[in-house]
Amino acid sequence: MARRKLVAGNWKMHGSLGSLSELDGVAAAARQAPGIDVAVAVPFTLIAPAALRVPGLAIGAEDVHEAERGAHTGCVSAAMVKEAGATFTLAGHSERRADQHETSHDAWAKAAAAHRAGLRVILCCGETEAEHNAGRAERVVQSQIEKSVPDDADGDWFTLAYEPRWAIGTGRTPTLEQIGAMHAIARAKLATMIGDRAQAVRILYGGSVTGDNAGAILAVEHVDGALVGGASLTAAKFVPIIAAAADA
Ligand code: 13P
Repeated sequence: MARRKLVAGNWKMHGSLGSLSELDGVAAAARQAPGIDVAVAVPFTLIAPAALRVPGLAIGAEDVHEAERGAHTGCVSAAMVKEAGATFTLAGHSERRADQHETSHDAWAKAAAAHRAGLRVILCCGETEAEHNAGRAERVVQSQIEKSVPDDADGDWFTLAYEPRWAIGTGRTPTLEQIGAMHAIARAKLATMIGDRAQAVRILYGGSVTGDNAGAILAVEHVDGALVGGASLTAAKFVPIIAAAADA
């Protein structure tokens, strides 16, 4: 089945009002590539100004709380980021799993809450370097998917991102064969959970994607786009990835 490619940026804890000008070039590149989807997840404080500045570009959050409201000091709900202009959120990013000790169950609850609030979701999974070296990557990713993908996931609102932690921010990437194998495993796992709807769910690759390697990675079967950290921070680095996806 043909799935539209999605190139999503993740600014992490980077950026300021001044750097929103980078999104002008990203939005222009997205307009030049009507056959694919482009999105950027930004820190909470930049969602509203980004959404106002580039209304044609999908702006998202990097996380949401699983509750609708309540006594959760310092947290932000899905409805809040939606009101600020977000159309999607990330959930279960490996940095939140590592730094905030979030579990796959937490990622599930956040994804479900975001969907209830009307947001799209990019849910992240991926093994650590130790798990990779121990030959456990497949089982870890299958288990993360099992525990974090909501039962009602479908391609309209749900996207999976496979991000091996050892490839994030390191300049190292798996081989194309390894990426293809893991994406096929991920889709097969999704199919055991949500049946035929798995065919329409996009599975992004993330981890040290650049303008140089994007073309080859995006040509791999079952790779439906990229989740990009460092190279999404400037238009100069992000636009070539958008162009590679448009050509893939
Ligand atoms: P890098 O592209 O900087 O490796 O980050 C990937 C990532 O974590 C995106 O969510």
